[in-house]
Amino acid sequence: MNNDLVKDIRSKVDIVDIIGERIPLVARGKNLFGVCPFHDDSNPSMCVSREKQIYTCFSCHATGNVFTFLMNYEHIDFKTALKELGDKVGINTSSIKVEKKVTKYDKLYEAYNLSVKYFQNNLSSMIGKTAKEYLKNRGINEDIIKEFEIGLSLDKRDDLTKLLSSKSYDLATLNRIGLSSDDHDVYIDRIMFPLYDVSGQVVGFSGRIYKDIDMNKYLNTKETEIFKKGEMLYHYHIAREECRNKNYVIVMEGFMDVIRASTIGIRNTVALMGTALTEEQINLLKRLSNNIILCLDGDNPGVEATLKIGDHLIKNGIEPKVIPLPNPEDPDSFILKNGKDRFINLVENALNFSDFKINKLKEKVNFKSDEETSNYINSVIEETAKLNDEIRQEVILKRLAKEFDIGYNTLDMRLKALTSKKEVKVKKEIIVEKRKENHKDKYIKAMEQVLYFMFFNDFAITQVENEHLVFPTEAMRALSSEIIYYYKKYGSINVADFYTYIQDKENILTLYNEIISSDYVEKTTKEDLFLYFKVIREYGTKQEIKRLTNLMKNEVDPLEQAKIVERIRKLRIGE
Ligand code: UTP
Ligand code: MN
Repeated sequence: MNNDLVKDIRSKVDIVDIIGERIPLVARGKNLFGVCPFHDDSNPSMCVSREKQIYTCFSCHATGNVFTFLMNYEHIDFKTALKELGDKVGINTSSIKVEKKVTKYDKLYEAYNLSVKYFQNNLSSMIGKTAKEYLKNRGINEDIIKEFEIGLSLDKRDDLTKLLSSKSYDLATLNRIGLSSDDHDVYIDRIMFPLYDVSGQVVGFSGRIYKDIDMNKYLNTKETEIFKKGEMLYHYHIAREECRNKNYVIVMEGFMDVIRASTIGIRNTVALMGTALTEEQINLLKRLSNNIILCLDGDNPGVEATLKIGDHLIKNGIEPKVIPLPNPEDPDSFILKNGKDRFINLVENALNFSDFKINKLKEKVNFKSDEETSNYINSVIEETAKLNDEIRQEVILKRLAKEFDIGYNTLDMRLKALTSKKEVKVKKEIIVEKRKENHKDKYIKAMEQVLYFMFFNDFAITQVENEHLVFPTEAMRALSSEIIYYYKKYGSINVADFYTYIQDKENILTLYNEIISSDYVEKTTKEDLFLYFKVIREYGTKQEIKRLTNLMKNEVDPLEQAKIVERIRKLRIGE
């Protein structure tokens, strides 16, 4: 890896800008604070330091530099993060060689990549003629087949299983990852749509029937260690780039809808693949854009799902927009029937979720009944109270007042009563949150403090080396020797650049994150440093005494015992 270029890019971007573009940051002192996106939180426990160019979360201890932030936030690899930031500051990153991180899943991914190729081959061969016909009739052409890597599983019992077995995959593995069942294939004679995880790796399939047979329309890969439905959104890795330009994301129900939208050049879309939305998927959506447009099917289940998902998003602080499709169209069929322009027109005229919901509430009300009418008015006010936008609230209430000829103040009082309750609740939560106490014992604290000093006091590095200070744990020793090594190689040390250097060394990284996100002091003097050394050595002595005491317990020879006692005595008086 070309470290100079990497350091160059890192020093030319400001981590505050990069994080600030994605989550709101508020300045407090010389640092900035925001709600940490890496754990479930509503309090600003993430601190971004302009000076150090790192972020640290005091609650979940997520920390890192601008690269790690982008990688974790956007679910991209180092190379992509590097390219994205390089583009921003005008540095070409194509010459930078980044070794692909080896993961324990590589072999499983490879099985999926092989399967994709195999299914694609089937589809493009003579055997795939009927399936091709089906796709063509649905308006799916060669380009789309290629773009979405669509393939075909055969009407044979164990073709894929045999193929993968011959490539040294055992049946147990193939069963575990959902490609085989016992000794045969899972997918028989279906059009195969690869399913991608957030980084774009194929981790599963959805197979569709294409002949007139009485079977489940789609057959999906079972949940596996790499295929977790609740943690992915179909098309996320493509939408990620598209949403940056378009600044909004469209959520659809099925991947066929996403594929159809792609045929008319709309690619800032994701599919839920099932209508329940998990917390993890909400987090993913928020990463794409805060402007979320729901475009689910126009049938009843689609409307119900829209209402449910909209409420869920509002609880998460986002009011989505809604494209109501005529019943029973889905985006796929709507676009096929009406074409690109009519669909784009719908996107441009998407409703605010609350208006959509109010419309739906209204459909059920019998306005001849006073009770139903007042219940309806109350529900509208309740919906309005959920919005974090006073102007929108006023607009809705004014409309309501006019429609039912009720005093605006009456409605507003009701709204105020509801919103003030909400405020009290929020405040309580903040008081409950307190910074975690540091429960480590004084020895661990001293050791971590010394390691921390090494980043901000060059002499601390030299002293640790010259004094042969020995840390008691493997990770501490490794971290200290990496710091020394880095310092010697580059002549200086910087916490943000050091991250890039150790990002694949997991044992060190955990310790490093722990230290960086705790409350340690940066600067020290030589005198103070020696006090810390003393504490650390005292710990070494204590450990040694413990060891000798144990040794003595097991020693039967009185002469040997006496020797050990003498050694302990010497250690105690510090000889
Ligand atoms: P839909 O039934 O709306 O699929 O289900 P679709 O997109 O309209 O498909 P076509 O047009 O009939 O080919 C939406 C999603 O629900 C899941 C799939 O992920 C699908 O994309 N689903 C649906 C299943 O998993 N199994 C099924 O049998 C049906
Ligand atoms: Mn459909």
